[in-house]
Amino acid sequence: MIIQAVSIADNGGSLNCHLSDGQITRFHSIWLRDNANDDATKSSGNGQRLITIQDIPETVVICSARFADNRIIIRFNDRDLDVAYDPAWLMSHCYDKDRSKRSCWFADWVETWDGRLGKSLPSAEFDMVNTDSRSLYGWLFNLRKYGFAKLENGPVKSGALMDVAGLFGFVRETNYGKWFEVRTEVNPVNLAYTGLGLQAHTDNPYRDPVPSMQILYCLENSAQGGASIVVDGFRAAEVLADQDADAFALLAGHCARFSYEGSAGVSLHARRPMIETTPDGEVITIRFNNRSAAALTDIPYEYMQPFYRAWRLFAEIIDDVSMQVSFKLAPGDCFVVDNTRVLHARNGYSGKGSRWLQGCYPDKDGLYSTLAAMEKETIAV
Ligand code: FE2
Repeated sequence: MIIQAVSIADNGGSLNCHLSDGQITRFHSIWLRDNANDDATKSSGNGQRLITIQDIPETVVICSARFADNRIIIRFNDRDLDVAYDPAWLMSHCYDKDRSKRSCWFADWVETWDGRLGKSLPSAEFDMVNTDSRSLYGWLFNLRKYGFAKLENGPVKSGALMDVAGLFGFVRETNYGKWFEVRTEVNPVNLAYTGLGLQAHTDNPYRDPVPSMQILYCLENSAQGGASIVVDGFRAAEVLADQDADAFALLAGHCARFSYEGSAGVSLHARRPMIETTPDGEVITIRFNNRSAAALTDIPYEYMQPFYRAWRLFAEIIDDVSMQVSFKLAPGDCFVVDNTRVLHARNGYSGKGSRWLQGCYPDKDGLYSTLAAMEKETIAV
């Protein structure tokens, strides 16, 4: 859709853009003034705004508007200056849309998935993403799209996970260190010993902010079993909303509590919902971890029983094997999850052998920034 003509409306309070399909999309004068890109309003060097909201008069109106050289030229009443707007930029930022209330939706780049994703795991070779920018872009693109991706055949050396993090961002240091060990020696004397399985969870919901990504890098995995499992929490939220909209609303509408006090000098607590949404209904974060769930104190008495029912329903969806993708990591393999979205688990393991993983928490903004920058540089296909 392109803008074919413009006209002033509301006594200069807004601009009507007449589109090629006969529709009109509107922009307020204050919005247009705020988004002017002249040198006095916005830095041409870094694109940052040079004015504050108070620098725009509340009474700002459009005095004139016209097309010239494929630009929309506007003059406001607060300055003796023509301001040019790119019609394509305006169309890509239009906000005059139908906004019927939606309660469970996702960002454009998100594709939710269930166990069927196991047939085509998002995965790449360590050497390829380190040497070929298109391979790296494709791998990072899938990581953003699915909130999960594997990387195979990397070096079997302690700390190699930091090289993976360095592909797209920076690691957040916590009380567990820059990275942490997930190491279990299976008792070779007692072959009946079974390593405990873990219910699918997101890590550290007791932190605020919660770690937004996790890398789990395998250095040894000779024990029997011990497969890794991932579940798309966004898909689980979607299924919950479809099955029981009230249950979804309960989990999204009330704060749960999460705590960790397992180490000396550490006392971490967070009061956040299990399903976090934006005010307009986009699902942005899943927090789900039975081990660090604390006593619920923020749900009105009359909703507590239904809240538990909703929590159980959500857990049953997450535990459903049809939602799970499982795989076994070999030494030198790793997987990365968006910890605000994808839950991870491990099956129990037994017999002789050992299992040694290292984990760390890169921040997700690095992933998005790297992808966006690559797209700008047209490294993307
Ligand atoms: Fe974990």
